[in-house]
Amino acid sequence: MNNLNEDYGHELEILFNQLNPLIYQYILANLRTSLSSIGFSQNFITNLSDNLKKKNFNDFYDKFNSELKSVYDIGFFQEKVPEYFNKEVVPHIPMSNKLLDVGCGTGILLHTISNNPKFNLLTGIDIKEYPEWQKFKKSNIEYLVVQENESHKFIKKQKPDNVVLSWVLHHMDNDEQIKYLKILYSELPPKAKIIILEDSYSTIRIPETGADIHESFMKWNTAERRLIMSIYDWIANRLLARRKTVPMPFSYRSLEGWESLCEKIGFKITYSGFIGFPDKRDINTPQSILVIEK
Ligand SMILES: C[S@@+](CC[C@H](N)C(=O)[O-])C[C@H]1O[C@@H](n2cnc3c(N)ncnc32)[C@H](O)[C@@H]1O
Repeated sequence: MNNLNEDYGHELEILFNQLNPLIYQYILANLRTSLSSIGFSQNFITNLSDNLKKKNFNDFYDKFNSELKSVYDIGFFQEKVPEYFNKEVVPHIPMSNKLLDVGCGTGILLHTISNNPKFNLLTGIDIKEYPEWQKFKKSNIEYLVVQENESHKFIKKQKPDNVVLSWVLHHMDNDEQIKYLKILYSELPPKAKIIILEDSYSTIRIPETGADIHESFMKWNTAERRLIMSIYDWIANRLLARRKTVPMPFSYRSLEGWESLCEKIGFKITYSGFIGFPDKRDINTPQSILVIEK
């Protein structure tokens, strides 16, 4: 992945053609603080910004391969993200005989809770396999590839008690989001809960964390905020996590938007929180959590 235009021409066109210098400066300034908060060196951050401007990452990955592995793949995803999940997500997951993590990615959430006596069998599904599955596999965890067209059959057969969707729904297009939520509504037992962690902000509430970042973020209009969140997300997934195939339709909704969609499908909202802009994140994108019940 050297010349970004060759690898991601279409996505870059969608994102970077809408950018103006003010938004770009805002994004770079925020990236500087967020990336240094998780331990990246100034040299890494400067190089990333310069290469992004040129849309060319010749030599970047050779030069910073070991920093990416130690600071991001391990330090962020295997240390800081589990801390974040333990604080913001795990307390909302009810005791479960069978817990399903849809779009589990590396499987780090299930790995994080694998010794928690609240849970029995942990199943993670994703549309692609991750190398970490081999490392995190245990007698009470299974990771499986389940494509979109097999998901209904799978969920019907697996019959989970509760489900987690963490940072997944905005990787599905709008129709797919509705399709998955409807499948879950039809197949889960009564009182089952779904815990949704999303890149999402409230249009009416104040955030629990990061009031200053929130203030600067909310100065942009709705379309600009969406663009800022999309570019952060693109940088995190494509450049930092080096995930070439994760779908990126940038289909965010506000917290209120998620609430009304879930209620329309039939779910009851049992918890809804605008986490805001927590510390020690790779990107300063807004965070919300929603717990819905069948
Ligand atoms: C940003 S990652 C989040 C991974 C993980 N949940 C976490 O919290 O670290 C989004 C994941 O959603 C997966 N995904 C996208 N569409 C999906 C679908 N239709 N079914 C299952 N997984 C999907 C992607 O492959 C990717 O692994």
